[in-house]
Amino acid sequence: MARRTAVINNRGGVGKSDVALRLAAALAKRGRRVGLIDFDPQGNLSRRAGWVYNPNQRQITVSEAVQADRVGALAQVWTPVRWNVEYASRMVLAPAWLELENRYSEAGLVGAHLRLAKALHGSDDDLDDVIIDCPPSLFHLTQMAFAASDGALLVTRAEIDAILGARRVREFIGDKKEALHADDLTIDGVIINDYDQGRPRQRQQLKSARRMFGNLVWDPVIAHREVIANASNDHVPLEQANGSQVNQAVAAFELLADTYQKRTAA
Ligand SMILES: Nc1ncnc2c1ncn2[C@@H]1O[C@H](COP(=O)(O)OP(=O)(O)OP(=O)(O)O)[C@@H](O)[C@H]1O
Ligand SMILES: [Mg+2]
Repeated sequence: MARRTAVINNRGGVGKSDVALRLAAALAKRGRRVGLIDFDPQGNLSRRAGWVYNPNQRQITVSEAVQADRVGALAQVWTPVRWNVEYASRMVLAPAWLELENRYSEAGLVGAHLRLAKALHGSDDDLDDVIIDCPPSLFHLTQMAFAASDGALLVTRAEIDAILGARRVREFIGDKKEALHADDLTIDGVIINDYDQGRPRQRQQLKSARRMFGNLVWDPVIAHREVIANASNDHVPLEQANGSQVNQAVAAFELLADTYQKRTAA
C-alpha cells in the first residue's frame, strides 16, 4: 500500500491541483512511483497531466471505480502520464471529469464514504505515494478521500479566506475523523502557494498563517510564478514550460518533495 495524501482546502483556486501535480512530479523524479488521483469533477488535474476526455471513447475514470463499490476497482483506472520526460514513466493517473459529480447523489448509501478506500485497496501496492487532488469542498468526495488517506496536506495562499479555509479543514478533520472512519488521518502540513513577497498584505498574511499553523507550515513557500500557471495551461511538465524562472520553480517543488519525504516518513 502506498502512502496516501489528500490535498485539500475548503477555499477554491489556491493551487491545490498545481501543488498536487508538481509535488507528484518531483517525487517521481527522485525515483518514487506515484499515483495521482483526480478527485475533482472539474478534471483540471487530469487535463494538466495530459489526459484528454473523449466522449466517443469508453474511458474508465475514478468515478466508475467508486461507483463499482468493489475492492481494488481502481486498478483498472490507472493510466500513464503521457508527458515527454523520463520520470513520467513512474507516474500514473486516475482521471476524472464531470461524471464524478454523480457520485455526490450517492452520499447517503450505507458505507458510501468508504468507496474510494475500497477501490484503492490492493490497487496501489506497486506505488510508493498516492496524491489525491480534492475539490474545494468538505462534502462527500473529500470525505471519501479522507477515509482513504493517511494524511491531509493543506494548500493555501497568503490570503485571509484561504487561510480560514485551511483552518476549517483542520477543524473538520479534528471533529469528524472518527465518524469518517479516518481515525488515523493526520494533518501532514500546510503549503503556502502563489506567494508574492512584494505585497505587504501577503507578508502580513504569511505571518498570520505561521501563527495559526506553527510548524505545520512546510518549507519552502511557493512563490507566484507565471511559469507554474503556463505549465498547467499547456499541460506540460514544469521543465518544459514557457516563461522565466523555470529552474527556480522546479527547485522549489524539489525542496517541497524533500519536506514531504521527511514529514511523511513512517
Ligand atoms: N505558484 C503559482 N504561481 C502562479 N500561478 C499559480 C501558482 N499556483 C497555481 N497557479 C495557477 O492558479 C490557478 C488556480 O490554481 P489551481 O487550479 O491549481 O487551484 P485549485 O486550488 O486546485 O483550484 P480549485 O479549487 O478550482 O480546484 C491556475 O491557473 C494555476 O495554474
Ligand atoms: Mg483543483
